[in-house]
Amino acid sequence: MNKNKIAIIVLAALLLITGGFLYKTLDEMKNIKNQTTGEMKNVVLENLKTRRSIRSFKKMQVSDEDLNAVLEAGTYAPSGMNKQPSLMVVVQNPDTINKIAKLNASVFGPVDDSNFKNPFYGAPTLVIVFADTTSHTYLEDGSLVMGNLLNAAHAVGLGSCWIHRAREVFQMPEGKALMKQWGIPENYVGIGNCILGYPEGEYPVARPRKADYIRKVD
Ligand SMILES: Cc1cc2nc3c(=O)[nH]c(=O)nc-3n(C[C@H](O)[C@H](O)[C@H](O)COP(=O)(O)O)c2cc1C
Repeated sequence: MNKNKIAIIVLAALLLITGGFLYKTLDEMKNIKNQTTGEMKNVVLENLKTRRSIRSFKKMQVSDEDLNAVLEAGTYAPSGMNKQPSLMVVVQNPDTINKIAKLNASVFGPVDDSNFKNPFYGAPTLVIVFADTTSHTYLEDGSLVMGNLLNAAHAVGLGSCWIHRAREVFQMPEGKALMKQWGIPENYVGIGNCILGYPEGEYPVARPRKADYIRKVD
């Protein structure tokens, strides 16, 4: 056997071994084994089921690695006709977050500084999802981005919560001024605020799912 033949055989064997290894790791990535029962569970489904809204956070800022992973997941949300009409604005400056928190709280009425209840629960990072209203599925598309952010946050060990009233805040003159400052056109509306941070305290327990959630019909 000449040297070329040996090299090809060695290369083919290596490819087979590496291929098998990659296949196994991908399979393992999708499934986790319960150490007590030995039962295999799908990691993605478990992540969807165990995500909870988090409203108490450690003071530390979210790492760039975790934040970027969450944002990237947001960009992969499906969208009507693949128009991708959503846009995510990341805010980490505490003064800016506080300013938006006060605007958010003001939707309920005048904000009293002495007993201000922070609607963002002191989260160190805020991601505001906007969507372009010229796309007719903007609300669904923006909401799916929000969903991806919440689930991806949980997947990387971050706590998150959808905080409402983004639409109202960015229809206020102060909100519109911020949009202008951030270069967001006027035809965009606020869909939701996703607060992010490392969870502090006890992890919330999910309420039971309602009995008639699912209806299978003929
Ligand atoms: C559209 C929407 C708006 C929400 N607005 C708020 C909010 O303003 N403040 C808040 O604390 N939680 C808010 N939440 C979080 C819900 O309260 C939470 O998802 C619900 O209680 C279920 O809990 P879980 O997320 O832990 O499963 C919102 C959730 C959604 C989907």
